[in-house]
Amino acid sequence: MTLLRLLGASALLLAGGFAYADPCQMTIEGNDLMQYNLHEISVPSSCTEIEVTLKHAGRMQAKVMGHDWVLAKTSDVSSIVNAAMGAGFARGYLPEGDQRIIAATKLVGGGESTTVRFSTRMLQEGMSYSFFCTTPGHATVMHGRFLFGDTKRLARAK
Ligand code: CO
Repeated sequence: MTLLRLLGASALLLAGGFAYADPCQMTIEGNDLMQYNLHEISVPSSCTEIEVTLKHAGRMQAKVMGHDWVLAKTSDVSSIVNAAMGAGFARGYLPEGDQRIIAATKLVGGGESTTVRFSTRMLQEGMSYSFFCTTPGHATVMHGRFLFGDTKRLARAK
């Protein structure tokens, strides 16, 4: 009886988890091999706010293998990465007050996680966005496409 009740409760929890999974919230992982576990993030344009959690699943310290999650227009990525190098580790490899950065988490090391919440007001449907890590040398491997709205449909319509 107790077991049945437990099973019933976990089934309900699972069903609830699927029913209420928020498409405006996501988690991405970084590791000690300088990799993200996602290469594409897609967000519906119905989201007014987006919440991204970056979890460093590795064990290395931030100074050695730190990761962040930064969002910008794809065309701005290389210049932001250059500016980040100048900002240095003390500033979390983030150029201060850089208007091209749409959203950024802080830099985290192994076992740490960090969350950023941002408004989608600055995002345009169909624009090419990328997310990337600003630790020097990381962005060439640690980057991915960020899709806002039905960009596949927009691309077809062109
Ligand atoms: Co990184």
